[in-house]
Amino acid sequence: MNTQRIAILGDLLDIEQAPPPGTPLDEIPAGVRWRPAHWLLIEDGRISAVQAEAPDASWPRDERPGQLILPGFVDTHVHAPQLDVIASYGTELLDWLQRYTFPAETAWADPAVAAAGSALFLDQLLAHGTTSALVFPTVHKTSVDALFGAALQRGMRLISGKCLMDRHAPPALCDTVASGERDTLALLAAWTGKGRLAYAHTVRFAPTSSEAQLRLAGELHAASPGSYVQTHVAENRAEVDWVRELFPGYRSYLDVYERHGLLTAQTTLAHGIWLDADARARLRDTRAVIAHSPTSNLFLGSGLFVWRGRASDGMRLSIASDVGGGVSLSMQRTLAAAYQVAALQGQRLDAFTLLHAATRGNAASLQLDQEIGRLEPGLVADVVAWDWAEPGSVLAHRLGRANSLHEKLFAWLMLGDERLLRRTWVAGRAFG
Ligand code: GUN
Ligand code: ZN
Repeated sequence: MNTQRIAILGDLLDIEQAPPPGTPLDEIPAGVRWRPAHWLLIEDGRISAVQAEAPDASWPRDERPGQLILPGFVDTHVHAPQLDVIASYGTELLDWLQRYTFPAETAWADPAVAAAGSALFLDQLLAHGTTSALVFPTVHKTSVDALFGAALQRGMRLISGKCLMDRHAPPALCDTVASGERDTLALLAAWTGKGRLAYAHTVRFAPTSSEAQLRLAGELHAASPGSYVQTHVAENRAEVDWVRELFPGYRSYLDVYERHGLLTAQTTLAHGIWLDADARARLRDTRAVIAHSPTSNLFLGSGLFVWRGRASDGMRLSIASDVGGGVSLSMQRTLAAAYQVAALQGQRLDAFTLLHAATRGNAASLQLDQEIGRLEPGLVADVVAWDWAEPGSVLAHRLGRANSLHEKLFAWLMLGDERLLRRTWVAGRAFG
C-alpha cells in the first residue's frame, strides 16, 4: 500500500495542560511542550513521530526553520452564514438578530448560496488556522448538506446540524416540530459515519423553540449516540428577561434546557454570562460546556464572562469566535479579547492557558482530545505553520525584546493574526 508521508521541520509548540494560576512564567512550566528545530512526521494523515533528528532520505520534507508549528485551532462556536453580517453596526443581541442576522440566514434557503457560503466559510477557517469547529448553519436542511459536503471535501473535523427554530423568527426561517424531526432524521441518516463529521442537535436558543420542539431535540439527542447539542444561553440581559416571560414554570434559562434532556457532556452552550450560582452548579454536575465568546460579548455589549471564576466553579469551558456576533475568525484575536475581558476584572490569563484553551482545551470540551489539539503521535495531523512576525513590524520589534517563551508567545497572541499563517495541514493534506 502507498503511504502518504511528509516530514515538517520547525519550532513545535503544544500545551498538554494549562499551568495552574500563579505559576511562574519565566521558565517553561510543566505541561508546555516547546520543541524548537524538531521534525513532525506525518503518515497517512496522522502524526507518527516527533523527533530532533532528521528522518531518513525516503521522507519528503517541508523545512520551515524558525516557523512556529502549532496544532490547528478548534473553534467551539461559530455561525457559517454570518460572514455576511460580521461587523454590523449599532445593536444588541435581539435587535441584531432581527435587523442583520435573520435576513442573512434567509438567503441560505437557496442551495447555491449555501454551497458558496459554506466553501467560503471553511476556506476562511483554514486561512485563520482553525481546522475543526462546532458550527451553526441555518434552519434549512440544505445548509447542513452544503456545510458537511464542503467539510468532507476538505477532510475537516466538523460538527454541525440543522438549526431548530419554530417560533419568534421570520416565517422563512421557521420549521415545525414535524419538519424539524423529519429533516434531522434525514440528515443523521445521510451523514452519520462520513469522514470526520458529527451531528449536533442545534437549538438556536430557547426563545425560538416551542416546548414541543425542545422536547423533540432532547429525544433526538438521546436517540443518536455520539451526537452533540449546541445552543446559546444567558448572553444578554434582555434575552434572559424574555426567556423568563416565555418559560414561567422554569427555575432558570438553563433549566429550560435541562428539563428537555439537552444538558449532557456533549452539550456546548455559547456565552453563559448571566447565570446564577444554582445554574452554575447544574453546569458543573451535568458537564455541559460554556463556550466563552469574548469578541462577540464585547461587540454586542452583552457582558463580561468571568473565566477564572467559572473554571474554579468546576465548570467545563471552551473558547469561541462566535462570528458574526464575534468580529474575527482569528483565534489570536479571540484569545487577546479573552485576556482583556479578564483584565477588566483584575484577573490574568497567561499565554499558555490561552493557547491551551484554543487547542487541547477546546478539543477536550468536545471529547476529541484523543484526535486533535496536540502534536502527539497517533493524533490526526491537523497542524499549522506560522511566522512569528512580519519583518519590520511592531510585533517583530517587540519579539526582539522578549526574554522568555512566555513573553514571546504572549506578544504573538496579542499582536498576531491570520496574516502570519504560512500553511495549514488537515489530516496531513496541505492547504494554502
Ligand atoms: N442567540 C440566538 N441566536 C444567536 C446568534 O446567531 N448569535 C448570537 N451571538 N447569539 C444568538
Ligand atoms: Zn452564537
